[in-house]
Amino acid sequence: MLFRFTDEQLMIQAMVREFARKVIAPTAAERDRTKEFPADNLKKMAELGLMGMMVPPAYGGEGADTISYVLALSEIAYCCASTAVVMSVHNSIVCESILRYGSEELKKTYLPKLAAGKMIGAFGLTEPEAGSDPVSQITTAVRDGNEYVLNGTKRFTTTGKNAHLVIVTAKTDESLRHQGISAFIVKKGTPGFKVGHLEDKMGLRASDTTDLIFDDCRVPADHLLGQEGDGFKLAMTALDGGRIGISAQSIGVAQAALDASISYAKQRSQFGQKIAKFQGLRWMIADMATELEAARQLTMSAAAMKDQGTRYTRQASMAKLFASEMVNRVTAKAIQIHGGYGFTKDYEVERYYRDARVFTIYEGTSEIQRVVISNHLLKDKRTP
Ligand code: CAA
Repeated sequence: MLFRFTDEQLMIQAMVREFARKVIAPTAAERDRTKEFPADNLKKMAELGLMGMMVPPAYGGEGADTISYVLALSEIAYCCASTAVVMSVHNSIVCESILRYGSEELKKTYLPKLAAGKMIGAFGLTEPEAGSDPVSQITTAVRDGNEYVLNGTKRFTTTGKNAHLVIVTAKTDESLRHQGISAFIVKKGTPGFKVGHLEDKMGLRASDTTDLIFDDCRVPADHLLGQEGDGFKLAMTALDGGRIGISAQSIGVAQAALDASISYAKQRSQFGQKIAKFQGLRWMIADMATELEAARQLTMSAAAMKDQGTRYTRQASMAKLFASEMVNRVTAKAIQIHGGYGFTKDYEVERYYRDARVFTIYEGTSEIQRVVISNHLLKDKRTP
C-alpha cells in the first residue's frame, strides 16, 4: 500500500514535531537522569489534543485517525521515549478501552478528563506470575451488593504511580478461564488500592513502572467495563492498538538514532576525511534507513486497517515485531557509528539504545507476536 498522507495528517505531524523538538527534547536527557515524571509536558500535550487523540469530540477528544496518532506519537518518541510510552498507554489502551467497552455514563465521566490531561490512565493486566500468559492471573473481583471487592497484585504497570485511574483486570469466575476475566476502572485514592514497588529500569526512566496492590479494594459495580467476562477480550483488543503504539515509538526512536548518526558521520573525521566517506559506514546508514522505512510501512498499514474497521490483529503484531526489533538493531548501529563517544552519556544515542530495549518485551514480547502471527496464519493454533 502506498501512503499519501492527507493535509490534516501532515499538519498534525508538523505541529507535534515543532512542539516536541522545542518543548520536550531539551529536557529529555535530564529526565532520564532524574527519573522525573513529565507531568508538565503531558499537560501541554493535552492542550494540543494529544491525550485524547482518537476520542470523539463528543467526549472531549480530537477524533483523529490512527495514522495521525502514529505520526504524532513517533514525533514525541523522537524527542523522549519516556513521555511517548505514557501517551501511548493513555491513548491506545485506556481511552480506547473506555470508548469501546464503557457505559455511556463511564464515557461521559472519564473520557473528557482523560482527553484534557486532567487524568492520566494506566492499565493493570500483568501480574508477578502472569506476564505473557495473562489468563493465569490470580487477582480476583467478587461481587458484593453494588460493589466488586478486588484482591491481588499487578506488576510492571506503566504510569502506575502517576496515573489517576487504572483499568484493572481480575477474575470474576475462575472456572471460565479467559471468559471469567473482567475489567474495571479503579480510581487512585480508592481505599484498599495502593502503589507498590517502583522499578528501577535500564531505560524509559522518566516513565514510572510499578506494582499495584489491591487489598479488599471496593469498586462500584457500575465501573465494570462491558459485561462480566469481557476483560480478556478487552485486553487483547486494547493490545492490538497498543502494539501499533509501540511500533510508532520504535519508529520515532529509530529516526532519532538515524538522524544523529548521519549528523555525527558528517562532522567526525578520521584518516584525513569525514567518516561519512567510508563505504562500511555508508552501508550501515543505508541499512538503518531501509529497515526504518519498512517498519514505517508496516505500521501505517496496520493503522490504516484499524481506521477502515478491518480486523488488524496480525498486522499490528507484525508491525510491533518488526519495528521493535528494528529499533534495537538501529540504535546499536548508531552507537557503533559514534564509536567510543556513543558509549557515553554525552551523546543521545546511548539513551536511545537503553530506551529501545524494552520495546521487544512490553505489550507482548517478540515471541508472543510470533505466536499471534502464526496462530492467525495456521488457524488451528493447537497444531504443534
Ligand atoms: N482481539 C479480540 N479477541 C481476541 C484477540 C484479539 N486480538 N486475541 C484473542 N482474542 C479472543 C479469542 O477470539 C478468544 O475468544 P473466544 O473466547 O470467543 O474463543 C479468546 O480471546 C482467547 O484467545 P486465545 O485462545 O487465542 O488466547 P490465549 O490464551 O491462547 O492467549 C496470547 C493468546 C496471544 C498469547 C495472549 O495471551 C497475549 O497476547 N499474551 C501477551 C500479553 C501481553 O501482551 N502483555 C503485556 C501487558 S501490558 C504491558 O506490557 C505493560 C503496560 O503497562 C502497557
